[in-house]
Amino acid sequence: MPVRVTKQLEFAASHTYSVPGASQAENEKLFGPCVRHHGHNYMLQVTVEGETDARTGMVVNVTDLKKAMQEAVAELDHRHLNRDVEHFRERNPTTENIALYIFEKLRSRVAPARLRTVRLHEDESLSVEVNDA
Ligand code: NI
Repeated sequence: MPVRVTKQLEFAASHTYSVPGASQAENEKLFGPCVRHHGHNYMLQVTVEGETDARTGMVVNVTDLKKAMQEAVAELDHRHLNRDVEHFRERNPTTENIALYIFEKLRSRVAPARLRTVRLHEDESLSVEVNDA
């Protein structure tokens, strides 16, 4: 029977939101105070699914999963995402886009388990979730 395992990890990053070509007033209307440079302490939760190994009783080696998660967020942690991360030079580093980015980075890194969900909490009041199809 498949079992799901969730591991979480914190990281911090800063960003701004804007639409290229839009005026400052238009961007402020769209994004409010998020047009200004600010930071978040993100909480990443990654859920993988698989069968438990008959010998170890584990779906995935949690140390390996933690390492894969640390590597996935290493280039984001304590960065100005728009400026420092190539992927976000031309797309807004929204919580949605960050979660999608992390999902793609982790997809091939959780074998023999399967990546099911990347949930990213921007703060206590907002989280987004990316699920496999
Ligand atoms: Ni923000």
